[in-house]
Amino acid sequence: MKVLVATDKPFAKVAVDGIRKEIEAAGYELALLEKYGEKAKLLEAVADADAIIIRSDIIDAEVLDAAKQLKIVVRAGAGYDNVDLEAATAHNVCVMNTPGQNSNAVAELAFGLMVMAVRNMYNGTSGSELKGKKLGIHAYGNVGRNVARIAKGFGMDIYAYDAFCPKEVIEADGVKSVASAEELYSTCDVVSLHIPATAETKNSINHALVGRMPKGGLLVNTARKEVINEAELIQLMEERADLKYMTDIMPAAHETFMAKFAGRYFSTPKKMGAQTAEANINAGIAAAKQIVGFLKDGCEKFRVNKK
Ligand code: 3PG
Repeated sequence: MKVLVATDKPFAKVAVDGIRKEIEAAGYELALLEKYGEKAKLLEAVADADAIIIRSDIIDAEVLDAAKQLKIVVRAGAGYDNVDLEAATAHNVCVMNTPGQNSNAVAELAFGLMVMAVRNMYNGTSGSELKGKKLGIHAYGNVGRNVARIAKGFGMDIYAYDAFCPKEVIEADGVKSVASAEELYSTCDVVSLHIPATAETKNSINHALVGRMPKGGLLVNTARKEVINEAELIQLMEERADLKYMTDIMPAAHETFMAKFAGRYFSTPKKMGAQTAEANINAGIAAAKQIVGFLKDGCEKFRVNKK
């Protein structure tokens, strides 16, 4: 059996070593394809793979067609919007994610971006503090919960909205549950996005919603760029010079944001919320273990596509 690690944005070496150990201990072979750039290289590498570990790498019908022996794809991470689930099911391929394994890393970066924004991008001028500010956590999943935990240390007043998580679960963490996204944005000085990119959420962070934020509002996005209605956010930030947008997922309109919103917009060049050795080790080794469990025992825990 051959397990391919196909990561255009590579894991830390220590994580790859850990993945190799798991795979080889199970008697399988590990192949590594990093920084491949072009899809053609991925198509070639998947040809004899029985299992694939990926990050944000695109697994579409063409890749699945090329992977004739493929049985399982594990997205080492949370969001699996990069995998065509229907095509995987049609190809009889199991798709899993590794929920929770990289969520602390993403949550810590959200605070890195928040501090950078309230300290005026570290430009030496007098900024403000997070303590006492109202923080809105948009979606209370694994990352949202870590954000709440860290926000307590900062002394923030914490609110959350999640369409699927029961109010009792949110409030058990000492977080105020609000009834709608609208209420969250109207209430909070800072909103941190932790929603997945789905048909319902794409473009949903728009003028009407973000426009509800109080004066000096800060939007932090470590989720997905697709959830932002970029044209409307640009329009809103043109109308309101007090709003700031910080992200580690570069918008399609990055150049426009840069040109128009100097000092109140920042994006990292690459998505880097989960780019820590710890997150790579946790998610990578979990992915390797899930593959071994699936191939040896048929374990389908964390399967995200239909059979
Ligand atoms: C995730 O969905 O797990 C995060 O967005 C991290 O993605 P990455 O593995 O591409 O950094």
